[in-house]
Amino acid sequence: MKLLFITSNEHKVREIRDLALKMNANIEIEHIRVAYPEIQHEDIEFVAESSAKFIRKEGLVGEEEPFFIEDSGLFIHALNGFPGAFSSYVFKKIGNEGILKLLRGVEDRRALFKSVVAFSPRGFVVKTFVGVVEGRIASEKRGASGFGFDPIFEFGGRTFAEMSVAEKNAVSHRGRAFRKFLNFILSSASMREAD
Ligand code: IMP
Repeated sequence: MKLLFITSNEHKVREIRDLALKMNANIEIEHIRVAYPEIQHEDIEFVAESSAKFIRKEGLVGEEEPFFIEDSGLFIHALNGFPGAFSSYVFKKIGNEGILKLLRGVEDRRALFKSVVAFSPRGFVVKTFVGVVEGRIASEKRGASGFGFDPIFEFGGRTFAEMSVAEKNAVSHRGRAFRKFLNFILSSASMREAD
């Protein structure tokens, strides 16, 4: 089975391909880049669902072609959940250094990452899968792998940038959302075979 993953982020593609391989899922993930405007809204589930509907409405993929997108956000406890749905903008503007600066001297380092996969099997049908990981913001950047906030997001004593793709997938927000999504795809496929 082939699924289109619409994203501009190669790292996300690597993460889901690695996961699909580990799950022995016979699913081919085809990466395509399609430009679409992302609405600004506090709820990333709403953003992901709206984007998937927009992509269909504008005919940016074939009518019967199953595709999915993924949106994520970093929610920092001491900053009342900021930057949340605006993580991408904030990362571009102030980066990891800016976040570390905002948290200088702040003891409460708790943060969570949330990932939402919005899958559209056909038409305007959209199903979402959510994954969350609770961790903390490190006191400085560590590690060289991954992307975005990976060097400052710590889970179990290591930052995501100090983990391999497989290690990150095992615990990350996106790994959790992708696993739910792939399990759904696999169980729908086996139900179809049983029909
Ligand atoms: P988006 O879902 O790609 O819009 O992500 C929002 C922001 O969060 C971007 O700046 C990403 O770089 C960052 N981000 C999303 N997922 C991750 C992750 O797994 N690790 C680190 N940063 C991430």
